Parts: sequence; structure tokens; C-alpha cells
Amino acid sequence: MSPAPTGGHTTPRSGIAIIGTGSAVPKRRVTNADLEACMDTSDEWIVQRTGIRTRHIHDPQSGESTETLATDAARNALDAAGITADQLDLIVCGTMTPDMPTPSVANLLTASLGARTIPAFDLNAACSGFVYAMNTAHALMTTAPYSTALVLGVDCVTKFCKFSNLDRSSAVLFGDAGGACVLSATNDTSKGLIAQAMHSDGGGAKHLYIPTTTHSFLNPDDTDDGKLNTIVMNGRNVFKFAVSTFPELISQTLDKAGLVPEDIDHYICHQSNARILAAARERFSIPEEKFYINIERYGNTVGASVPLILDQQTRAGRVKPGDRVMFLAFGAGLTWASSLWQV
Ligand SMILES: CC(C)(COP(=O)(O)OP(=O)(O)OC[C@H]1O[C@@H](n2cnc3c(N)ncnc32)[C@H](O)[C@@H]1OP(=O)(O)O)[C@@H](O)C(=O)NCCC(=O)NCCS
Repeated sequence: MSPAPTGGHTTPRSGIAIIGTGSAVPKRRVTNADLEACMDTSDEWIVQRTGIRTRHIHDPQSGESTETLATDAARNALDAAGITADQLDLIVCGTMTPDMPTPSVANLLTASLGARTIPAFDLNAACSGFVYAMNTAHALMTTAPYSTALVLGVDCVTKFCKFSNLDRSSAVLFGDAGGACVLSATNDTSKGLIAQAMHSDGGGAKHLYIPTTTHSFLNPDDTDDGKLNTIVMNGRNVFKFAVSTFPELISQTLDKAGLVPEDIDHYICHQSNARILAAARERFSIPEEKFYINIERYGNTVGASVPLILDQQTRAGRVKPGDRVMFLAFGAGLTWASSLWQV
């Protein structure tokens, strides 16, 4: 691997464009009927409560992992951008499910993609990871000599689901995926971040977490070892948090930008539950064609859900140059974040 040059970069002082997107999902597609076969649930319960019909679940036996999804999504984004990995100056990966505590997924990508010895790191903001990563990469690109960045949201969260009655209320919700985009400095000053917001509240950690040692249980009645390495979720509390937070986040972001809901061309939101999304859309009377929902096919893919939709809508030709795109997410932590771009 060749080292990153110490000179020759220019600090971007103008616009930042999204020049390519990519995504990847595991091959194995699991239907609600498949889940009915291994736990006490039903297609009707899952669809009514969540809107989910299928999800993709990684198969470790065939080598699928957070790193392989990240590599595939990144390669697709680089191809779409028409650049090679050695042109990257920075990699930021939002993930809460790296294959190992260290090295980071972003670090491993420098080798699997063939990048130089550039700065590459993960950040963990749970389902808000990609949105945090976009804001972080933008901030670094406008203050440091990085002209081209790869930003990812990748999660294999089903590593932490048990497909049995032990975990039926959360196992039915999740799927695995990776999404990526390439950011590039441009002389076109109309392109880039218009407004952003990022929040955390550790007081809500007990509503959604993954204990990995007996010391990491956050709820007094959670001392059963069978819950180790398994998502612990109080679905009702998370639901209430999301239903109130999503509209507040949209209002806050619009206020910061001095815009109104109709000024936004695309709302690309974390896909946690079709009912939560519908409530936010109806609150602002946002037309369905501006507010994408793909949870029916992929479930909740944690940090990957926002870049997965970005890639699908970009490839479908719906997200076009000059459009205003609002990325929105919330998740464990609790965390919540937005990133409003002119692309
Ligand atoms: C998880 C969620 C779908 C559960 O819906 P809910 O209406 O709150 O359901 P409850 O948890 O109150 O459970 C209702 C009943 O369904 C049962 N149930 C739970 N999971 C079930 C499943 N997979 N299949 C069938 N029944 C199930 C419960 O045991 C309960 O039965 P009971 O009334 O006999 O006790 C909902 O709370 C939710 O979507 N929350 C947000 C979760 C989220 O977005 N997490 C990710 C954040 S990034």
C-alpha cells in the first residue's frame, strides 16, 4: 500500500458534491413466513406493527460480514463516482457492528479497496451512524486538506438477534446491509451541506442496548445470561421517542436552513417502522413521492438504511443534481441526527 502524500492536496473552500453512491445486501432473503417457522410470530403481526415483509440476513458460513458488505457498497460507490480507491483522502464509516472491536471497518477498507494510508475510522452512533458520518466528513473536508471522501453506513446487526421466542419482538425488525457515497470538493458553491443537527441522550440507553458482558446490563431485571450479545429493547419507549423526535428534528433542521417543508425535494429517513415514518410524513403533509419507504423489503438495517435509500433513489434517477435532500435518523443511545444537502 502506498503512503498518502504529504503535499499536493488542496483544502476545499467551496462546495462539496456527492459524486457516487453504492449499496450491498446479503444474498439470503428471509420472509416473515421463514420467521414463523422458528418463533411464535405471524406475518400479520409483523406487517401490522412494522410494515416489514422481508429482510436480508448475512450468512457467516459463506463469508458475509460487515466488512464484506462495506467493501461491496464502497466498490459500487467508487464505480459510480468514476474514481479509484487510491484517489480517496478520507474514509468515515458509521457502524455499531464491526466484525472485531479493532481494527475498525474503515481501517480494513483501506486494504480491501487498495486505498493509500489515509485517515480512516468508524464512528458509532447506532442507527444515526451514517448521518453523523456525513456531517463529520463534511466538517473534516472543509477544515482539513481532504478533497475526496468515502462515507459509509454499514451494519450486520443480526449478529445480535436470536431467531427464537427469546428475542421475537426485536429479531423480526432487523436486516443487514451496507451503503456508501463518495464526496468530492467542487468549485460549484451551490453543492454541499446546508444545515445539520446531531444529538445524544445517554439517559435513554436502557431502552435499546446490547449487553456483551454481565456487567453491561442496564436494566435490573436483565440478568439472564441468555441475553448476552442479544439486543435488549423496550419497543414502546423507543416508539414514543421516535414519534416525537422525528418531527422535532425536521423542524429544527428546516429552521436552521431557513426553509419550509415544501423546499425539500427528498426526505431520506432511517427505516425503523412504517408507522413512525407515516406519522412524521403526515405531520408535515409531505407527499409520498418525496418521502421514501423501503422497510417492507429490507427491515431496519440500522446505519445502512439511509445510504441504501440514497443509492436506490439516485440510481433510479429520482435524486438529481441541484435537489435538496434531507437525511434523518434516530437510534440507540439514544441518538438522533439530520443532514440537509444540496446535491
Ligand atoms: C417493537 C414493536 C413493533 C412492538 O409493537 P408493540 O405494539 O409495542 O407491541 P408490544 O411490545 O407491546 O407487544 C404486544 C404483544 O405482542 C407480542 N409480541 C411481541 N413480539 C411479537 C412477535 N414478533 N410476534 C407476535 N407477537 C409478538 C408481545 O409479547 C405482546 O403480547 P402480550 O400483549 O400478550 O403481552 C414496536 O414497539 C416498535 O416498532 N417500536 C420501535 C422499535 C424500533 O424502532 N427500534 C429500532 C430503533 S432504531
